[in-house]
Amino acid sequence: MKSKISVAILGATGTVGQKFVLLLQNHPWFEISELVASPRSANRTYRNACAWKQDKPIPYVLRDKLLLEAGSELSSRILFSGMDSSVAGPIEEDYASKGHIVISNSKNHRMDRDVPIIIPEVNSSHFEITKKQRFKGAIITNSNCVVMPVAMVLAPLHQAFKIKWVQLSSMQAISGAGYPGIPSYDILGNIVPFIEGEESKVETESQKILGRLDGNTIEPADFVISAQCNRVPLVDGHTINLSMEFEKKPSPQQVGDILRSWKSLPQEKRLPTAPRSPIIVFEEENRPQPARDIWLENGMAAYVGRIRECPIGHIKMVVLGHNTVRGAAGAAILNAEAYLSLGYLG
Ligand SMILES: NC(=O)c1ccc[n+]([C@@H]2O[C@H](COP(=O)([O-])OP(=O)(O)OC[C@H]3O[C@@H](n4cnc5c(N)ncnc54)[C@H](OP(=O)(O)O)[C@@H]3O)[C@@H](O)[C@H]2O)c1
Repeated sequence: MKSKISVAILGATGTVGQKFVLLLQNHPWFEISELVASPRSANRTYRNACAWKQDKPIPYVLRDKLLLEAGSELSSRILFSGMDSSVAGPIEEDYASKGHIVISNSKNHRMDRDVPIIIPEVNSSHFEITKKQRFKGAIITNSNCVVMPVAMVLAPLHQAFKIKWVQLSSMQAISGAGYPGIPSYDILGNIVPFIEGEESKVETESQKILGRLDGNTIEPADFVISAQCNRVPLVDGHTINLSMEFEKKPSPQQVGDILRSWKSLPQEKRLPTAPRSPIIVFEEENRPQPARDIWLENGMAAYVGRIRECPIGHIKMVVLGHNTVRGAAGAAILNAEAYLSLGYLG
């Protein structure tokens, strides 16, 4: 690639926005040229407006950059969006109507008929539907942060053995709720067995991602998911315990072999943000663990362990994902890389 492509970050001050800032610094294809947030932050410097919570400092060149107000005219064609879902819907539509390519983390448009939820390892063919969108530009979404590692695991297994049902229970870190998120009094030394709106997302998004593109629509995959979602006192990393039944019963060994060897478009095209192995399977019986494993493959893989027989279904296992990297900003960046590498931007 000759010169870098200018990009903007919408919601640049938030939890996901901060991860975009870190992951895009020194990116070989993209250069951050605009930082955008709410009217509260507009015209303030990034370091002043942002409650920076990352373990690395704000990149020096962005510290004193002035924030723009969401809705204002932007020169970047690609907009990475980490805006609060209470406002993201119409703002993203407006930018897409003006010709921008909006790569979004928010739930607002994920289930729209003409908007894909992309995991490039799983369904890059669904990018095609962006050509039929009502916008001059496009909206492309990535999934919910629990769905991401789960759908990555389900995809090769569904292809090999056809899933009938999945039952899962999540242990989700506090960064998944943004900043300031859940009050410390409610989460320290505690588990909260309710995350508003989460279970319905987890029960529906995977089927769309694993669905079949049929002309102007995506036919969802035909299996059912039952989810129970819990908030736990960890900063980063969502762990999911799941059981499943298939049409064709596999052995734990077969499941491990398929997950371990799975590779797809981002790996074949060597996209800059792609993990070398999208799924890491642990042999140790006490892994994966959020405190030990979420930075393997730079946070971009799904980490799997304890694959064993389930006495009710066929197979059970533990899946872990980095919610703000592979489950949010890193996923969106990989989507932009895949979209570009497939020639959709001309
Ligand atoms: N956290 C995760 O792990 C995760 C994972 C996947 C998806 N998501 C989704 O990503 C989005 C961002 O999540 P987050 O965790 O980063 O939330 P957050 O920390 O609360 O950040 C929200 C961002 O939205 C901006 N915003 C708020 N009101 C606005 C307005 N009226 N106009 C324009 N911008 C406005 C905020 O800017 P100000 O600072 O100026 O208020 C801030 O930059 C949400 O839709 C969330 O569901 C999050």
